[in-house]
Amino acid sequence: MHYPRVQGSALALCLVEIFRVNGETRLEGDVYVSGAKNSSLKLMAVALLATGQTTIRSVPDILDVTIMSELLRRLGCAVSYDPQTEVVVIDVPESITHRADYDLVRRMRASIAVLGPLIARTGEADVALPGGDNIGSRGLDMHIAGLERMGCTVTSEHGYLVVQAPTGGLVGTHVYLDFPSVGATETLLMAGVLANGTTVIDNAAREPEIADICEMLVEMGAHIEGIGSSMLTVTGVDELKPVDHTTVPDRIVAGTWGVAAAITQGSIAVHNARTEHLSLVFEKLTSAGAVVSEIVDGFSVTMDRRPTAVDIVTLPYPGFPTDLQPQFIAMNAIADGAALVTENLFEARFRFVQELSRLGAEVRTDGHHALVRGRSTLSSAPVESTDIRAGAGLVLAALVADGETIVHGIEHIDRGYVKFEEQLRRLGADISRETIADLV
Ligand code: UD1
Repeated sequence: MHYPRVQGSALALCLVEIFRVNGETRLEGDVYVSGAKNSSLKLMAVALLATGQTTIRSVPDILDVTIMSELLRRLGCAVSYDPQTEVVVIDVPESITHRADYDLVRRMRASIAVLGPLIARTGEADVALPGGDNIGSRGLDMHIAGLERMGCTVTSEHGYLVVQAPTGGLVGTHVYLDFPSVGATETLLMAGVLANGTTVIDNAAREPEIADICEMLVEMGAHIEGIGSSMLTVTGVDELKPVDHTTVPDRIVAGTWGVAAAITQGSIAVHNARTEHLSLVFEKLTSAGAVVSEIVDGFSVTMDRRPTAVDIVTLPYPGFPTDLQPQFIAMNAIADGAALVTENLFEARFRFVQELSRLGAEVRTDGHHALVRGRSTLSSAPVESTDIRAGAGLVLAALVADGETIVHGIEHIDRGYVKFEEQLRRLGADISRETIADLV
């Protein structure tokens, strides 16, 4: 269908997808969690470190996997993905190119994950600078400082980060990160595994997705000590071999289902979840009044009353994950009492609060803090997702609002949740995906 440009204005009608949600729902049933998005994408980049065929399992069927597949193809690999089996197969040739183009990097910031492998394999990398995104500016200074300490020269040319390893190859060194950055830890880890000598990453990020990457690297023949701790010691080897690896389950998706049960006063059994990665999240759900129980392959959350508001402070793992902050704000918005939410990782993460306010939520933000006063009901309205987790938070709020909420910008949600609306429908939600003509 073709929609003409509206006369005399810069606006045009385009076809977009939305979720139509009828609220006042109680969710009940079982869900199955796929592998972690934030791990799968990096594991695909890790494959670049070994010539031959790598297989990665439990890779979620999301757009970012398609983007990463395309990026690897442009670098010279053959990549296939089967959404039914959730298996990615990557064939890496002897010789790969070293440029990550802007058109892909701008669509997915995680493309930066190829930086470390490209330098390690080819001695150079031209990676488009990702720029800002909807949750903040997200610098690369720690990636750059670490690579410079390993002997690289790093310049910025025409919007690209241009990195050149020293003639004799990367040099192992001791790097102290100012902050336990997930991305910087990954870059230095992937650079260090093929470097000369030993690289120590001090104050490293400890997220389970980093441990997953380390485990795959060790299977490939890398020498890494301190996995899961804040000091990773990586002794370079000459060569790595391709492997068959299964991605760690997505703790953020699992946690989102936990909140979905609590906010709707429902009961959900979450399968394929690693409970040890969610201790603090369970603690908060329990404080809110939910009953959290371990089951054989995951956990269940049952709530039989209105949640109590809970304070949240986001911090690097094992602290409370920033990627679950919007979902907990949504729960606090209909909770009994008031709560203070402190965001320490991404400055723009409270942007979604304005959208939540459109549903009647009472939230005041001041810098890093948001004060949420729970209300007994939320009232439906059209809202716009600004990023993946904000989108999930808005859908959860829409599930309990009175009436019909239209959620725009659902392409963000699709980047982190596989067929979110289908899974919600199976749990009893009244939600549909529709294509509408909208002004853009
Ligand atoms: C990853 C996750 C994201 C999660 C975040 C924190 C992926 C694809 N994304 O993002 O979902 O919310 O971890 O758990 O895995 N920073 C700098 N300079 C640097 C590096 C980071 O200033 O060199 C800052 C960023 O601007 C940000 C903070 O540090 O404010 C956290 O960044 P980082 O831990 O690296 O997160 P990402 O890898 O971007």
